[in-house]
Amino acid sequence: MSYLGRSIKRVDGLGKVTGRTPYTPDLVLPGMVHAYPVFSNIPFGRITAIDLAAIKEAPGFIAIILAADIPGENQVGVIVHDQPLLADEVVRYVGDTIGLVVAETATDAHALAELVQVKYEEYEPVLSMEAGRAGRGRLLHESNIACSHRSVRGDVEAGFSSSDLVVEGTFTTPHQEHFYLEPQSCLAIPESEGGITIHGSLQCPYYVQRAVGGALGMSLARVRVVAAPLGGAFGGKEDVPSELCARAAVAAMLVGRPVKMVYDRRDDVQMTSKRHPFEMHYKVGVNRDGRLLAADVLLESNAGAYATLSSVVSYRAAIQALGPYRVENVRAISRAYYTNLPPSGAFRGFGAPQVCFGHERIMDHIAAELGIDPVELRLMNLIRPGDITSSGQRLDHCAGAEKTLTKARSTSGWLKRLPAGAGRYREGWGVATCLYGNGLGAAGWRMDGAGARLQLLRDGSLEVAYGLTDMGQGAITVVAQMSAEAVGVELSQVRVLPTDTANVPDSGPSVASRNVVLTGNAILDAAEDLRNEMTSTAGQLLKCPPEQVEIEAGRVRDLQSGREIPLAELAEQMFVTNRSMGALGWWHAPPLDFDADRGQGEAYFAYSFAAQIARVKVDTLTGLVEVLKVWAAHDLGKAINVAGVEGQVEGAVSQAMGWALTEDLRMTDGRVDTVNFSTYLLPTFTDMAAVETIIIEEPEPLGPWGARGVGEPAIIPVAAAIANAVSDALGVPVDDLPITPEKVLALLDKADNGGLGTGTTAIGSHG
Ligand code: MOS
Repeated sequence: MSYLGRSIKRVDGLGKVTGRTPYTPDLVLPGMVHAYPVFSNIPFGRITAIDLAAIKEAPGFIAIILAADIPGENQVGVIVHDQPLLADEVVRYVGDTIGLVVAETATDAHALAELVQVKYEEYEPVLSMEAGRAGRGRLLHESNIACSHRSVRGDVEAGFSSSDLVVEGTFTTPHQEHFYLEPQSCLAIPESEGGITIHGSLQCPYYVQRAVGGALGMSLARVRVVAAPLGGAFGGKEDVPSELCARAAVAAMLVGRPVKMVYDRRDDVQMTSKRHPFEMHYKVGVNRDGRLLAADVLLESNAGAYATLSSVVSYRAAIQALGPYRVENVRAISRAYYTNLPPSGAFRGFGAPQVCFGHERIMDHIAAELGIDPVELRLMNLIRPGDITSSGQRLDHCAGAEKTLTKARSTSGWLKRLPAGAGRYREGWGVATCLYGNGLGAAGWRMDGAGARLQLLRDGSLEVAYGLTDMGQGAITVVAQMSAEAVGVELSQVRVLPTDTANVPDSGPSVASRNVVLTGNAILDAAEDLRNEMTSTAGQLLKCPPEQVEIEAGRVRDLQSGREIPLAELAEQMFVTNRSMGALGWWHAPPLDFDADRGQGEAYFAYSFAAQIARVKVDTLTGLVEVLKVWAAHDLGKAINVAGVEGQVEGAVSQAMGWALTEDLRMTDGRVDTVNFSTYLLPTFTDMAAVETIIIEEPEPLGPWGARGVGEPAIIPVAAAIANAVSDALGVPVDDLPITPEKVLALLDKADNGGLGTGTTAIGSHG
């Protein structure tokens, strides 16, 4: 292969490092005006009056858009229709948008939005998951439950009866804010023929297209959405941009001018989605050897004010509740509760990092209880080819699961690790494994298709349009590589166009580590048609049978005679002989045989596997945890861009280090206190652990060139491995994230006072 399996520089890298890449906030158009939201400053209540007197005569004021101005549907919920585009009756969180002020400058729009006086009849808010679960008082929606899922097999009670040991634990994980560097932003342009074009910082152009079409009462053909270069997203630009863009679109149509809207950091953190906090209860039965016999798992999460993508998270949590382990008797129940907090939505992994913390902490509790090495316990229970997952799916291509774990163990020197010691500084080691269903799964199967369009130009260069987006993960580069490889052009001759709904049919959302598999297969599909035209024309030029023509890396050759012509000559010949030089490729996930009632069967078409080992150093005087090194072994079928894979893994380690150790989203009465970089502590490069990425390539039969996704698998085991390592270092179970210094010191105090066993039962000692 010419371009795959190597380290390729980002094709969009130069613009980014030189500052030339135009992000959405940089875009300027003639006649452009600016919008800013008016949003609720109370967590729960009914709007009784909106006083516009203060803004209508103000300089710079152009218009204010309220719910009554929406020509189409006042609804923006992606899956459940529970969220108004503009609240006109009830507000359900601090940040619920009521209107948009349009003004000549961004500064005016922002200032005027704050002058709008909204009066409310306030309700008693639901401010915690406990309150949401209790469902007492006034409900936010018809039920206090945003969604629920289950995955149930075998006979759980019988499984516990035949167990030698039953271990229970409660594990909690917090909110996580995406903190992409570029805030939410969009630009809506009314077109002269009556349609509208949107440019925005968005992951999912086709979600936005539908939301804008719905809000304007406009056909999809009139709504064109272009994804501008993104300054980070991580799931935070999956559902939220639909709101911004649809509101800006309503404003743009009303004032007849391009409308730009850029959130400031404080409001972005307050108004937009976060990772769901989870509270997980695991009860697991094992035999004397450590074989898992039964599991009863309850996964409860905080959905916030609207359902948005809670069902995607809840479904995946139930399916992946036991990770990559074989368990024949399982009851996994997952539920998300409404609260008057900012909505929880998509965040890298869709609930998988949360349940991984659950299944990997309980595995370490079991290992401690039985006195078994944590890696050995996992190896004993890992799925092997032909085994059935805990959600009832037979996997024939999962040999990589075991390989990731044995390779992480041997590379890290796990077997030669030293005991933590009893001094001020204590070292600990932790391991975690995971699986990750690629794509949208049985629940989202209808959307799990994607396209790519290849266009050969007269000079032999290639234009590629695809339907997913690059949010910084490197999609453009792997799309260019896969296109060059599939067609046989030189990589430098490929240009990947900005994602544009006008170029490619609805390719679903850019989520769930879908790009390599879905877009890659679509590229192969398109390339097959294009290559037929190319080899047949080349055969005529070279006077040889088409099967004898080799086209690779821009060289067109008769394999027999060795005669060669430039690709440009072939392309020109195709142009003048009426050959088709463009092709649309398509790939849809295969049908899945899944029983939604029991949550059993083919939940996803393919799985990625990972095992990570973390080594940490804990300062018992200050409580600070330093992550010394992470060994990350990933079976991703085939690495398309090796440097890209390493980048994904290193980025994921830093992002999960934040979630595990320092990021601590605090709220008071539904208002976020930690709205900037000085109070919401993201790891910086000075905190960064050394990372060793270990690539395992067990080919995926459904993947292009055998590849699977790695974007989310990279983050899933990190926090669990770190928590297991800190538990090992302290000899105290760490079952609650984030592991802040205060928490470490409290755990040590508790240990000194003999009060072990935070939140767990049936566990007496550890480490
Ligand atoms: Mo992501 S959580 O797949 O946007």
